[in-house]
Amino acid sequence: MTGLHTAWTRSVGLTTPIVCAPMGGAAGGALATAVSRAGGLGMIGMGSSGSTDRLRAELSVFDARDRPWGIGLVDWRMRQDTELLPTAIAAGPTLLSVSFGESFEWVADARAQGITTTTQVATVAEAVRAQDAGIDVVVARGSEGGGHGAPTVGALTLLCAVLDRVQIPVLAAGGIASARGVAAALAAGASGVWVGTVFSGCVESLIDDDARAALVTADETTTEVTTRFDRAAGHAWPDRFPERVLTSAVDGGTGVNAGQGVAMVRRTRSAAEVIADLTSGAADLLGRWSR
Ligand SMILES: Cc1cc2nc3c(=O)[nH]c(=O)nc-3n(C[C@H](O)[C@H](O)[C@H](O)COP(=O)(O)O)c2cc1C
Repeated sequence: MTGLHTAWTRSVGLTTPIVCAPMGGAAGGALATAVSRAGGLGMIGMGSSGSTDRLRAELSVFDARDRPWGIGLVDWRMRQDTELLPTAIAAGPTLLSVSFGESFEWVADARAQGITTTTQVATVAEAVRAQDAGIDVVVARGSEGGGHGAPTVGALTLLCAVLDRVQIPVLAAGGIASARGVAAALAAGASGVWVGTVFSGCVESLIDDDARAALVTADETTTEVTTRFDRAAGHAWPDRFPERVLTSAVDGGTGVNAGQGVAMVRRTRSAAEVIADLTSGAADLLGRWSR
């Protein structure tokens, strides 16, 4: 596989600038293991239904501690289950993400243990606030993205605007689902990419086979943003963070998180295959410009 490096991948020890987003109900220990073993940064995600017990269970499956890896929490859930954060920090991930919150007191605790910290932002103002709070890396998450997030600004606009304003490394997220998206983000100046939907469709993900099949048939027009599942479940999501799901799933009554990049999920692959395709394809595309 052709390598692709940025200053950030070198500092973290990655062989490719691809981070698998922490996805509750999709990114467990098996997916994180597969991504990290393939040279990316695999993350265990604890979402709306995350808990300390579930985190411990996924950590027991995770088997790539000799590689860079991470854990991702959701702020409101972390505050309900107060053992989540200490358990995540004690596990010693390379990268810890806490997203969808307002305060950053967790950053000092993580950094004190040598853990790199990150959070997803949807506006330039949020990116600046995160940098000022001591966050090490910021994820500029565009409105195309799957799962929860403020559906405010498209990924390319957000990435460029955030890159202009902060000095810390920026990872690009939202709709990055093929080598073209990876190349575009890196060419713009991103330190890496944070990819969700494509990895959620991989064989190692925790989603069920019906959901995996639905991802393969969906395209860029068949997702929508909704709060209906969170309301029905009584989850404490702030109103400004709806989730992007497959429209077919909305009709069917069960939410399948997916972003508009689902158009590029054409078959069910392994995480290693996705990483190889994204990495060598992006290196090839970027190489065309320097030739
Ligand atoms: C199935 C799924 C579950 C997700 N769960 C979480 C989560 O638990 N925590 C989180 O911070 N982000 C979560 N996200 C959002 C991702 O972190 C990221 O913003 C998004 O996947 C990027 O856009 P993309 O899906 O187009 O790659 C989830 C996304 C998906 C697709």
